[in-house]
Amino acid sequence: MTHMSRRMFVGGVVGAGLTVGAGVGLPAVIGSGSTGHLVRSQLKLPAPYKLPLPIPPVARPVSSGSDHDSYRMVQREAIAEILPGVQTPIWGYDGRFPGPTIVSRSGRRTEVEHDNQLPVPTVVHLHGARTPAESDGYPTDLVLPRNGWAASAPMGDQLAKLTRGSRRYVYPLQQPAATLWYHDHRMDFTGPAVYRGLAGFHLVSDDHEQGLGLPSGVRDLPLAIADRAFAADGQFAYPSKDPTLTRTPGVRETYIEGVFGDVILVNGAPWPEHPVDAARYRLRILNASNARRYDLAFRVDGKPVPFVQIGADQGLLDRPREHQHLVIAPAERFDLVIDFAKVRVGAKVELVNSLGRGTTSRVMRFNVVRRAADESRIPAALRQIQPLQRSDATVTREFSFRAGKVHGGHAGWVINGRPFAPDYFAAEPRLGAVEIWRFITDLHHPIHLHQVGFQVLSRGGKPPGAFDTGVKDTIDLRPGEAAEVITRFDAYRGRFVFHCHNSEHEDMAMMANFKVI
Ligand code: C2O
Ligand code: CU
Ligand code: CU
Repeated sequence: MTHMSRRMFVGGVVGAGLTVGAGVGLPAVIGSGSTGHLVRSQLKLPAPYKLPLPIPPVARPVSSGSDHDSYRMVQREAIAEILPGVQTPIWGYDGRFPGPTIVSRSGRRTEVEHDNQLPVPTVVHLHGARTPAESDGYPTDLVLPRNGWAASAPMGDQLAKLTRGSRRYVYPLQQPAATLWYHDHRMDFTGPAVYRGLAGFHLVSDDHEQGLGLPSGVRDLPLAIADRAFAADGQFAYPSKDPTLTRTPGVRETYIEGVFGDVILVNGAPWPEHPVDAARYRLRILNASNARRYDLAFRVDGKPVPFVQIGADQGLLDRPREHQHLVIAPAERFDLVIDFAKVRVGAKVELVNSLGRGTTSRVMRFNVVRRAADESRIPAALRQIQPLQRSDATVTREFSFRAGKVHGGHAGWVINGRPFAPDYFAAEPRLGAVEIWRFITDLHHPIHLHQVGFQVLSRGGKPPGAFDTGVKDTIDLRPGEAAEVITRFDAYRGRFVFHCHNSEHEDMAMMANFKVI
């Protein structure tokens, strides 16, 4: 199938495909630490550390049974005041950005009925979850808008399952405690939809984790970091080719390497501040940005405050690791514990980003306001992780992630030279098989596999890096790098995707299928 046909939707809507003509230049990324291009806001930005940190509300089930909880969410347009006094139209789960946080127990089924009241089709993917294919949010399994959309099945994808108005996603969550997140995943239009606000946390806990004595309650903070730019009228300034997000995918030529904003939001607020006790806090950091990488550090009076990593994308590490800084690529999650008792009461602890410049070099600030009792602990052993061995693998595959020609010879992003096509399978692992996947890159590509967690085996021909520990679902690959990951495909049979999680690359075809057989 051609790249054109995958973009054809019946009902007369034919995507024009990519029309970017320019090549992708390396010089733009050298020294920037990320692959992308900055959109500058057209209005006055607030001073940092003036607004409180929002904590997304925890969603309440509409019904529960002995083995499951059911939720309902409405995807709708809303107006948010993100910059003080400025009205920004958003798309939000329940009208919020980020959406409500879902909290589940491991092994307890969670069902979420999503009602699409937006003007475009949507798809919900629970990132990091082991989910049967029919609920994984395959990019063409569209939920058509409740209020009308003239389309039937995306042509060229016989397997696509469309629903109109709403869809119930069923998550068995047969996996250990982890910080997951849900977000839109519609083919060709994930970047702009997430940018408008379609993302939220989904936390999975289990008895083992709960018994460890880690900081909890108000001392367990999910922090979604995302950069945005604002137009003069207060709208998000995302450089879509087609602002209606109905026909032509992709971004304007300047931005095909990725879209950066100059405002850093944490849980939807610009450079917020948060009062904390002089005690340990668990910080679940999610990079919810489309393209921006961060090198984060906590700093007080110019000095770094060390912290401990307790978890990675797919849950707890085997044991805690101390860091002075943390590099995080889009879609990665790092679970940290920082002890604010190590600084004086009254101290202001900044979370800074050494890959940023100017406004993007700051993220948020914690103000240590009072002494307080602290019963929490960080156990020396967090959980058992069975390391997969090279000798366990029966298959090794290689995938190159590069700029390449997509439909019509235009510039885009490809895996092994191919743009995404729903009917092409780049790999067919057997259920239960252990495989090594080797990735090679031209620029920065955060590579994500649906359905499985993996362990990093090597990076650049050397042992894994400091931030590769634990079980991951997204690996931060840097320009001209090769890395190997190892995984067991032991969850479900069916069709799943793997892709670059730079959303602009993903929308411009850097995605492929694997089928577990
Ligand atoms: Cu977070 Cu396929 O996505
Ligand atoms: Cu995912
Ligand atoms: Cu990429």
